[in-house]
Amino acid sequence: MQIGVLTGGGDCGGLNAAIRAIVIRAAHAGHQVIGVYDGWAGMVEGRGAPLSVKEVAGIVGLGGTILGSSRTNPEKVENGMERVAQSFQTLGLDALIAIGGDDTLSVAAKLVDRGLHVVGVPKTMDNDLNATDACIGFDTAVERVATACDMLRTTADSHHRIIVLEVMGRDAGWVATEGGLAGGADIILVPEEKSDLNELAERLKRHRDAGYSSSLVVVAEGATIEGLPAQEATGKVDAFGHPQLVTRAVGEALADHLGNLTKIDTRSMTLGHLQRGGAPTAFDRILGARTGAAAVDLVLKGDFGKVPVLHGAQIVPIPLSEAVAVNRHVDIDLYHLAASLTPTE
Ligand code: F6P
Repeated sequence: MQIGVLTGGGDCGGLNAAIRAIVIRAAHAGHQVIGVYDGWAGMVEGRGAPLSVKEVAGIVGLGGTILGSSRTNPEKVENGMERVAQSFQTLGLDALIAIGGDDTLSVAAKLVDRGLHVVGVPKTMDNDLNATDACIGFDTAVERVATACDMLRTTADSHHRIIVLEVMGRDAGWVATEGGLAGGADIILVPEEKSDLNELAERLKRHRDAGYSSSLVVVAEGATIEGLPAQEATGKVDAFGHPQLVTRAVGEALADHLGNLTKIDTRSMTLGHLQRGGAPTAFDRILGARTGAAAVDLVLKGDFGKVPVLHGAQIVPIPLSEAVAVNRHVDIDLYHLAASLTPTE
């Protein structure tokens, strides 16, 4: 067999570990993997080449994706879905493994409806894919946020400041919640839960009055704070209809207002793509290896239209349609725990 593999959407830690596992697992079973370049763009344009075991053997700890990625949506390209189907012929693919989040996998699900042999692998640093306990890339992002908090704490302490750290995550608060919890943030703000500017300022003043020399606020890029002038996204909307949430600049606006209300020197920083780049955590490498190998097993069984996901300690296949049915929002109990740990005594 010839099995294609592509990575779509935003890059993140652990993609190369998945590619490596796919190529080696397939090779052990006597099959060839074709690397498709730049996500669905490569399938629309028929761009790809064979991947050897030697090429992927050493990439487990490498960030990003050796295949390149894009946010190309074939449904928004003229005859895009037909061109993708045609590329199965031109690239000689018997099956395709699409590594991606809800956007990439929603295209995969539609191709399955057209009778094409596609399986998925779940990745997104946002961790908002339905019906899996974790996605490739999320743990690395959490680690980056925790490290940023540690580093911001020492400078904030030195200058007795409030620092607001804006993190990614789209409309889900997973990265903010777990990164903020791991990094000992004093306040965490997510899109799923309302918060009020004046109440936040009061909480920060109580924190300061209790004798703490700095405060760290982690805010998700998609969070809305009552009392803060509406933060609208500007700039481009991608081919799947997502605005660039970083252009809301919620962290910067929040820092301005909190500084004015508390009269405490305040700064903000936006962590940005540092959350996605660089060496993946061990967890993401392992999850990439497990789900990548499981995807090859599904292909070899002819069990298409599925995506192997993490349920507890097990990797189990679920229908692609279920994985993309809804976005998975933050575990609200976990958020409440994380958000409740403001030291005020
Ligand atoms: O979906 C992953 C993600 O990192 C989001 O958290 C973020 O809003 C977006 O991608 C940023 O996209 P880009 O790479 O286009 O700046």
